[in-house]
Amino acid sequence: MPIFQGTDSVPEAHAEGMHTALKSQMNTVLGDGDFKGKAKSTMSLMGTDGGKAMLVGLGKEDDADVHAYRKAGAAVIAGRKKSHGTELTVRFSGSSIDCMAAFAEGMMLRDYSFDKYKAEDEDKEEELTVRVTCDSGQEKELSSKIHTLHGVASGVHLSRDLGNMPPNDMYPEAFADQAWEWAKNYDNVEVTIINYDQAIKAGMGGLVAVGMGSSRKPCMVIFELNSDKKGRGPMLVGKGITFDTGGISLKPGSNMDEMKYDMGGSATVFGTMEALASTGFEGKVTAITCMAENMPAANAQRPGDVITTLSGKTIEVLNTDAEGRLVLCDALTYAERFKPKTVVDVATLTGACIIALGHHTSAVLSNDDAFATSLMSAGKQAFDHAWQLPMGEEYQAQLDSNFADLGNIGGRAAGTITAACFLSRFAESFIWAHLDIAGTAWTSGAKKGATGRCVPLLVQHIVNQA
Ligand code: BES
Ligand code: MN
Ligand code: ZN
Repeated sequence: MPIFQGTDSVPEAHAEGMHTALKSQMNTVLGDGDFKGKAKSTMSLMGTDGGKAMLVGLGKEDDADVHAYRKAGAAVIAGRKKSHGTELTVRFSGSSIDCMAAFAEGMMLRDYSFDKYKAEDEDKEEELTVRVTCDSGQEKELSSKIHTLHGVASGVHLSRDLGNMPPNDMYPEAFADQAWEWAKNYDNVEVTIINYDQAIKAGMGGLVAVGMGSSRKPCMVIFELNSDKKGRGPMLVGKGITFDTGGISLKPGSNMDEMKYDMGGSATVFGTMEALASTGFEGKVTAITCMAENMPAANAQRPGDVITTLSGKTIEVLNTDAEGRLVLCDALTYAERFKPKTVVDVATLTGACIIALGHHTSAVLSNDDAFATSLMSAGKQAFDHAWQLPMGEEYQAQLDSNFADLGNIGGRAAGTITAACFLSRFAESFIWAHLDIAGTAWTSGAKKGATGRCVPLLVQHIVNQA
């Protein structure tokens, strides 16, 4: 039962049909101020007549916006114990549809753990069934909103699972296999895999150069949703480096394990497709994920190599650790044949992005300011924030090379911008934006784990576009 701060008795609308002992117990804790309704606080009660309840604080009624409801929903899951049972009813009255949906969203997003690699827990929680009661007339719109948010949550959870997998089990072909198996769940989804040999034959020099030093060979995975629909649809492209050692330009050792998250862009793209497919999205959407492992090896690429990309443009590889842009440029060129309406690529592309924006906001860069603005507002709507960085012509000169059409690094200054400038050279024939999620795709430290950012933003963006 969600409770505003300062509520001193069980709200009348909720009292009906409640176990008598439970109700008087609730009135006692509310009346005595033992439960104050502060934001994110919870209290569990067990009545002597068998009723069980959890009170959850929404904070001050005047401040109780969608954020407060979302946090309260998450607090319910965080504070829940096995003894509470597997069926739960959330009682609302007088709340807006958006606030109630946000509460449900908070619950669904918080209900995640990754323990595949831990010993089987005998106390493992069973699946939770949640019902929501609301005011009459709100049911239809509320359940449709919750249905969409449930899809977003399942996309976020898939994306987090993919990211959290250890890199010995999540390598390019494993990602492709999982996509292939996933596609079997939906009649309107097709997955196509371009394997290493096909990539060589096609002339995907960037993808091949990055992946050739690994015994786990690179590939591209193409996702098509509702491909039989007429007209142009949005396209997504994901960076999928399943482990980034830096290659011959080897990274320092500390925290290198976190470079398993360097496939976060592809995980976001896959999760977004799951969210859309599972909610029955009817528009055409296409996605390309470029998968490779960046390893130092006798047969790895080296600084100074000049490679020819799928576009025909040549690149002087000045630093093998700037590998993301090398796989993405071939995917952007390949995207042209789908004649997309718009293209958004998602990538854990630059450490510089963390310096610029930290860990709360993803970066957007685009060859179309209006398009960048629409992505930022989708991010705002979905509470998955992104902020635009400039990408003026004047930065392009930092990519000049003495030996090829362009170099793959632009120096220390404005690293996120020059990386996007590099990509823009391969996105000249469509409206395109780039999301740098280096700072947002995972968290470090005690709560280390993938976040599933920007699945909510991208789903919102595609729904808005439709
Ligand atoms: N995957 C990294 C970017 C990264 C680093 C993301 C740390 C999150 C945390 C990317 O491939 C990379 O190594 N970029 C280089 C580019 C540089 C060599 C121009 C970087 O940011 O240092
Ligand atoms: Mn790198
Ligand atoms: Zn990388």
